[in-house]
Amino acid sequence: MKKEINIAIVGGTGNLGSALALRLLAPGVKVIIGSRDKEKAKTVVESLKKIQPKGNLEGKTNQEAVKEAGFVVIAVPYEGHATTVAQLKGQLAGKTVINAVVPLKKGKPFVPPAGSALLESQGILGDEAPVIGALHNISAVDLQSPDAPLGDVLVCGDNDGAKQKVMEIIHRIGARTFDAGPAANGYVIEGLTGVLIYLNRKYKSRHASVKVTGIGD
Ligand SMILES: NC(=O)c1ccc[n+]([C@@H]2O[C@H](COP(=O)([O-])OP(=O)(O)OC[C@H]3O[C@@H](n4cnc5c(N)ncnc54)[C@H](OP(=O)(O)O)[C@@H]3O)[C@@H](O)[C@H]2O)c1
Repeated sequence: MKKEINIAIVGGTGNLGSALALRLLAPGVKVIIGSRDKEKAKTVVESLKKIQPKGNLEGKTNQEAVKEAGFVVIAVPYEGHATTVAQLKGQLAGKTVINAVVPLKKGKPFVPPAGSALLESQGILGDEAPVIGALHNISAVDLQSPDAPLGDVLVCGDNDGAKQKVMEIIHRIGARTFDAGPAANGYVIEGLTGVLIYLNRKYKSRHASVKVTGIGD
């Protein structure tokens, strides 16, 4: 029997977080949607339950959500990233943090002072919790529709054990994962989303994604 996994999604009321919740619920993962506003989280949970009645889904404040989880996905816009992570510091001890945040200004990527959103959150948390970068290049539009094929997920970070666990979770949502190296590679993977946003605009799509070829084909 697979071990039960509890995942909190900070910013889980948004596009990525709520679509990810739907995909995680299907294979039986317990998901706690976090929000700055508990009532908003509960409202989103009610609407998600109508789409996916299976599984265990709750809505709480971000602080309450992370308390109950072994894994915590950070899915807020970059402008709120540092403040959000700093507010959760102390409560993330012993958990694995999955950071999907892409630094964007008006839809264009940039490299933040810390080097990447991933390095920024690891800098805030220090040794408290490993931060693994993942899901940046996955489209919320694809995640939302249960049968849509997903792009590949490039996973990076400096803690190999945590990276492996995150890759296993992402397999459960139906995506291929690749160990894409250390946290220092995070800025490339985050920035790639800026290219995907450009491709979506250029080719009038909503779900450009990444596919790795030449490995295990
Ligand atoms: N959408 C995608 O397809 C996609 C794909 C890959 C990566 N990403 C990245 O994932 C992150 C989330 O994307 P998204 O499209 O889901 O964003 P979003 O819908 O704009 O926001 C997600 C949630 O973050 C919270 N939030 C908004 N502003 C905040 C702030 N200043 N401080 C703290 N929390 C704030 C809100 O929740 P509450 O009001 O409930 O607190 C909101 O529902 C972004 O960094 C994005 O670049 C997105």
